[in-house]
Formats: sequence, structure tokens, C-alpha cells
Amino acid sequence: MSAPGETSKMEKKLTVPVCGPTVKGEPMTAVTWSGSRDIRVVEVDRPALAHPEDVILRVTSSAICGSDLHLYTGNFPKGSMTKGDILGHEFMGKVHEVGDDVKNLAQGDRVVCCFDISCGRCDACRHELYTLCDKSNDSTAQERLYRDKSGGYFGYSHLTGGWAGGQADYVRVPFAEQNLLKVPSEHERHGDLDVILLSDVLCTAWHACEMGNVSKGDTVAIWGAGPVGILTAQCAQHRGAKKVLLIDQEKYRLDFAERRLDPRSLVTLNGRQHQHDGGVAKAVRGVLPHGPDVCIEAVGFHYASTLLHKAEMSLGLETDPADVMNEIFTTVRKGGRVSVVGVYLGYVNHFNFGCFMEKGLTMKAGQTPVQRYWKDLLKKIENKDLEPRVVITHELPLEDAARAYQIFNDKQEGCVKVVLHTRFYDGHYPSHERGVKDDEDVAETSSPH
Ligand SMILES: NC(=O)c1ccc[n+]([C@@H]2O[C@H](COP(=O)([O-])OP(=O)(O)OC[C@H]3O[C@@H](n4cnc5c(N)ncnc54)[C@H](O)[C@@H]3O)[C@@H](O)[C@H]2O)c1
Ligand SMILES: [Zn+2]
Ligand SMILES: [Zn+2]
Repeated sequence: MSAPGETSKMEKKLTVPVCGPTVKGEPMTAVTWSGSRDIRVVEVDRPALAHPEDVILRVTSSAICGSDLHLYTGNFPKGSMTKGDILGHEFMGKVHEVGDDVKNLAQGDRVVCCFDISCGRCDACRHELYTLCDKSNDSTAQERLYRDKSGGYFGYSHLTGGWAGGQADYVRVPFAEQNLLKVPSEHERHGDLDVILLSDVLCTAWHACEMGNVSKGDTVAIWGAGPVGILTAQCAQHRGAKKVLLIDQEKYRLDFAERRLDPRSLVTLNGRQHQHDGGVAKAVRGVLPHGPDVCIEAVGFHYASTLLHKAEMSLGLETDPADVMNEIFTTVRKGGRVSVVGVYLGYVNHFNFGCFMEKGLTMKAGQTPVQRYWKDLLKKIENKDLEPRVVITHELPLEDAARAYQIFNDKQEGCVKVVLHTRFYDGHYPSHERGVKDDEDVAETSSPH
């Protein structure tokens, strides 16, 4: 802990402007939020360095995350987004300009950026709670609901600082030493698709397993076969889980997952099919009579499945549904572990808290402190222990962002994960030319390229 005098000196030094200066006359392309289901690709001036610890990153690739869909569908609280906000928090590229205090990076370095902005030296960051950084989120909006607030995140609303995102040609990265990870040059080993998901969803999948303490011999059930759920299953298998159940309501996603995960321990379960025969809990118990050791939520608040919660959410009587969490509480074994990486915002009605208490469950939840895991996970990618790129179904130019959001959200064209490329990307795409897709995916997914 620092002495009071030191803290105030540090706070002063850590004040980084969110909307920094721009370079006039150097326009860049950026993906902006303009309202519910309204994505616009526009030209704006590119960002300039605003602080000695900044880097200006020239983006090559930028993915769309399930968390972006909360913004896309207009499910974030009113006023938390402003027209023209630049989206994107899963991106990588090359260092373009370096602030004077950034010592570990040089122009031209190839880097992945994490979604969470960490200062690296506040109390939270020193405890590796990087998503809870005390210094990167100026907004006080969360305090009304939580008394405290998270750290800042790129491109993820004014609740998390209003930082410009990385679905753009350039982005300013504050505290760059802390928030950029150097990756080998693409010519040496890995293309963007191999490493970009270190910025968020691969680390989130790992975090889900860490919070559930997924260990050798465990049985694990995962709700949600989106990119996060599928990669969580991959991580659970890598950690030696005996059985992994993957649950979704979209058949194509379950079929897709079956072709990419180790079939020896995998069971997929379509929630829609079990709606009228005792539900998902009964179906899981058909496979594991005592229930899974670990249950993982990788769905998030904007998918209500029952009429009750759809109605209550639309009337503003609650912010989030209890559908998946109640299914998890009733499904997991007595004394089991629950891990929640799906995003929740606020109040939930009809929450079966008694079930949680009486069954003696343990639950952990949270946004992923990417910096805690990404170095180790890069090694696992290099050793081929993990292969996050298997979830990527679409590569599109940044200019096609509106269509990319639409097919990802509406579950069209076999979409599971989209990566957008800027004009600075010099790799070849689409990915199936390089072996990501198999024949069945080509049948279910069409790409304009
Ligand atoms: N904690 C973190 O740091 C972190 C990081 C990244 C993403 N997330 C969150 O993780 C969640 C998943 O992200 P994603 O990118 O995979 O998104 P996604 O929207 O593609 O995936 C969610 C999946 O859940 C499925 N689903 C909906 N209702 C269901 C139900 N009742 N039962 C089972 N499955 C159901 C959907 O069909 C979809 O396939 C989102 O809430 C996202 O915000 C959290
Ligand atoms: Zn995300
Ligand atoms: Zn911090």
C-alpha cells in the first residue's frame, strides 16, 4: 500500500483523457453504434497520443464478441451508449506510435490488446483483478447500482468509461505496457486468427474453468454454445474433464461444436427439444444422475427464454432473467460449483436462491482479467494444446460490419464468430482456404469472398 501522499501523486499521474486528441486530416474507418440494431461504418479522424503511457495501435483484425450484442440489441441501460461511439474490444494489430513512457514496445511490434483497461498499479491491478481497475473508468454510473464500479473496457459503453473501441483502423491504447501482449510475427508462426481471441474469449473460457475449478475427472455442463461456450468446452477437455455437456437452443451451433471438440467426452444437448419433457435439468440428469460437478453460464442476460421473464424485462420489472441460472442451480450436483461468465447487469426476479443455499453450492462470477492468463494461453496455442481459431466462421472487411453484426446476432449463415479485417490486414482470407472450415460448414455457411 502506498502512503496517502504517494496515492494522490499517482492518481494525478494516472489521469488519462478518454476522448483524446485526434490527428486532423488523417481519416480512418470506424464501426460505430447508432442505435438498436443500427451499426454505421464511418470516417473519423484517427486518434493521437494523449498520454506518455499510450500507444496508437494500427489495427489489423477485430472480432465481434457476444458482449457487443448486448449493445447491438439495445439491451444496455438507456443513456449508456451515445450515437457515434466506436465499438470493439477484441482486436490486434501493429504498434504505430509509442508514448515516451512505454518501454517494452516499439513501432512495428505485433500485439494483441486485451478488452479490459488496466493501469497495472492500483490496488485491484496489484491483486490481478484487472477488470476491476480503480483508475481506468471515470464514469460513476455503475455506482448507483453497485456502490462500486468496474474498470474501463474498450468500446463497451459509457458504463465502462466510454473508451473508443478497436473496430477501427486505429485505436489509442492507454497504459500500453500493461494492455498489449507481444505475439510472434505472422511470418514466423501465427496468423491473426490464431492469436486474436487471446484478447477476450479464449481467456474468458479459461477464466470460466478457473472459477469453476475444472479439474481432471470432473463432469462439466456449459450453457451456451457460442464462441465462449465452445472454447470453455475446449479448455475443460484440455484440463482433463471426464464429461463435458454443451447446451444450447441453436442446433447448428451444437453440430458445429461436435465437429470441433473431442467427441470422447462431449455430449451436446438441445434445450429446445427438452422444453416439454421436463426441461434441461432432467435431460442432464439422464446423462449424469447426480448432476455435474461444475455448471458454467456462458449465455448472458439478453437471452430470456420463458414468457414470464420476457414480459418482466420488457415492462422494466427486472433487468435480467433467471431462466439459465435457475436451470443451473437445479441441475448441478449437491455441493457443486457454479461459474458465471455470461454478462448480467442488475436485478433478477424469481431467482431460486433457496436452491443455491440448501444445496450448498459455490458460485463465482466476473469479467475476465485477461492479463492474468494471456501469456500462459499464448504458450498453449503455440504448443497446439488449445486452438481458439476453430470457432471463427466468418472473416469480413471492416466495411461489412453492419452485416457482420446482423448475421452473428440473428444466427444466420452458420455464424459462430466473426473477425473483421481492416485495410492493414495483409493475410489471405476467408479462413476456410486455410483449413478452418470443413465441408459441412461450407454447406451451412456462405461467405461473400
Ligand atoms: N465474463 C467475461 O469477461 C466475458 C467475456 C466475453 C463474453 N462474455 C459473455 O459471455 C456470453 C457468451 O458470449 P458469446 O460470445 O459466446 O455470445 P453468443 O451470444 O454468441 O452465445 C450465447 C449462446 O447462448 C445460447 N443460449 C441462449 N439462451 C440459452 C439457454 N436458455 N440455454 C442455453 N443456451 C442458450 C445462444 O443460442 C448462443 O449460442 C455473453 O453474455 C457475453 O457477454 C463475458
Ligand atoms: Zn467480449
Ligand atoms: Zn488499476
